[in-house]
Amino acid sequence: MPKAKVKEIKTIGVLTSGGDSPGMNAAIRAVVRKSLANGLNVKGIKKGYTGLLNEEIIDMDRRSVSEIIGLGGTILGTARCAEMRTEEGVKKAADICRAHGIDGIVVIGGDGSYRGAQKLSHEGINTIGLPGTIDLDIACTDYTIGFDTAINTAMEAIDKVRDTSSSHERCSIIEVMGRNAGYIALWCGVANGAEDILIPEKYDYNEQDIINHIIENRKNGKKHHIIINAEGIGHSTSMARRIEAATGMETRATILGYMQRGGSPTCKDRYYASVMGAMAADLLKEGKTNRVVAQKNGQFVDFDIDEALAMQKDIPSYEYEVSKIL
Ligand code: F6P
Repeated sequence: MPKAKVKEIKTIGVLTSGGDSPGMNAAIRAVVRKSLANGLNVKGIKKGYTGLLNEEIIDMDRRSVSEIIGLGGTILGTARCAEMRTEEGVKKAADICRAHGIDGIVVIGGDGSYRGAQKLSHEGINTIGLPGTIDLDIACTDYTIGFDTAINTAMEAIDKVRDTSSSHERCSIIEVMGRNAGYIALWCGVANGAEDILIPEKYDYNEQDIINHIIENRKNGKKHHIIINAEGIGHSTSMARRIEAATGMETRATILGYMQRGGSPTCKDRYYASVMGAMAADLLKEGKTNRVVAQKNGQFVDFDIDEALAMQKDIPSYEYEVSKIL
């Protein structure tokens, strides 16, 4: 059988989509510079798919990405785009790509952003996804750009809350982000030595267990009680009121919020984003489409987006068991 002709790529676009994450700029920089080195033209698409649909498209060269590797956020801006979930929106986006001579796009974001990339690929625009989210909730990859910075930011904040909780002999419920996934909570819970870690994948909503734990620890002379609560469980403020009423221990809720998404990326986020961004540029150059770059078992690899979206990920049981014992 004759080999299918690989589409020749001359111009690529890059966009960031969904929640921003530290390291996205390092990824943009790598996509731009590796694509230029591969002999391609590069366009930056502002504000994710929303900017694409509004034709907010700019030319990019090596200098456009100078001095950005250490910056948090995304220089291109980002958005969540409802129109890309519609057939008309996807067709319009593909037409706009063609009108601007864009043959392929690197999409930096999470699962939702990959769905847009998958549909664009079906419309003849080559697409490569890069895992950009603080939540670590993309099943095909062990690493997502931004997770490392987010957990370190949260860990430092939790250490500070712990100091004041200890001084005042209070219980603190600290809520961390992660949407429906408990990875940020689990990592910070272990790293901060929290007394209780509540994650959506495992929590049985038995508050009495937490109350008993606090009472027992107080009897043993423990001065504070730190509970890390995942956003997917939420309701930290009302939980604090109930726990205070049941234990008599002053209890405060602290919701860390967007501080976890900002700030200068760690070395790990910059490094991984750089390698993954370069890989995405190479995959497009090779004429690949509907692929997502991932890190699996220590290797940088790529998967078909359809396969990637069908994969499942769960909290490793052993790590969760260890978190309860320590
Ligand atoms: O995906 C990153 C994240 O910060 C989640 O942890 C959180 O659930 C969500 O984004 C918040 O989204 P928004 O930016 O729309 O408030």
